[in-house]
Amino acid sequence: MKIIGGPASQALSSRVARELNLEPTISDFTRFPDGELYTRILDEDVDEVTIIQSTMTDSDFVALLQLIDACEDSPVINVVIPYMGYARQDKKFKTGEPISARAIARTINADRVFTVNVHEANVLDYFNADAFDLDAAYLIGHHLRSLGLQDPLLVSPDLGALDFVERTAKEIGFDYDYLEKTRLSGDTVTIKTKNVDVNGKDIVLLDDMIATGGTMVESIKLLKSQGAKDVYLACVHPVLARNAVMRLYNSGVKNIISTDTIEKIQSSVSVAPLIASAIKGL
Ligand code: R5P
Repeated sequence: MKIIGGPASQALSSRVARELNLEPTISDFTRFPDGELYTRILDEDVDEVTIIQSTMTDSDFVALLQLIDACEDSPVINVVIPYMGYARQDKKFKTGEPISARAIARTINADRVFTVNVHEANVLDYFNADAFDLDAAYLIGHHLRSLGLQDPLLVSPDLGALDFVERTAKEIGFDYDYLEKTRLSGDTVTIKTKNVDVNGKDIVLLDDMIATGGTMVESIKLLKSQGAKDVYLACVHPVLARNAVMRLYNSGVKNIISTDTIEKIQSSVSVAPLIASAIKGL
């Protein structure tokens, strides 16, 4: 088995390889003078491969397609997409729109596909391969427990993340609750006042991803106004687009904790053990 890390998942792929006592395969990622991507796997042995590449940007997606194509002689191709971009467009919200998640998934030519906490489970059905979603709840939960928080409460910013928050809270014996969000636009939300008992408590707001930070900014304001002590943010996918980090710190967040599905400074929890054990189970 070869572990091939794409350009967006170099650290995570190395960690997965280490968990499996393998040496990751090195590839070259450069650009042609016109800006097009050049990709080359620097290993000519033909073997089963696991390609690990998040697709946060369109270029990341092209690099993944190139890696899959370069492995054409491999007897088995497993593809791990720790963060799958476009997964939030998993259906048509307005007429004339594409189902972008389906458009992306249909291009992945592999035997098996793994995602990590993909935005909606129905996205897995769009792949022409056996597709599995891995759950980082256990890993995030155990990291949160190690922080020694005071009277901690895990809070979901909306109903959509409540299942994930509940699973995580149950792993570590934290109490949990949820807020009610209404999305007004791509980066504007309102969070409905709800009487969560947060007075004097350390709060961890947990979601599958933080994108513009709009959801979390409004949630932090509400919880602080209701007397929360420190507010931490945790997520699987730290998209943290544009000025999200600064807006979150300006709202008074204590710390932002995420996994390495997207490799950022906030990625203090690695999903490598999760991916490695899925590969071991093949
Ligand atoms: C939405 O359904 C997701 O779970 C997140 O709540 C959302 O993507 C966060 O977006 P933003 O950070 O832009 O508010």
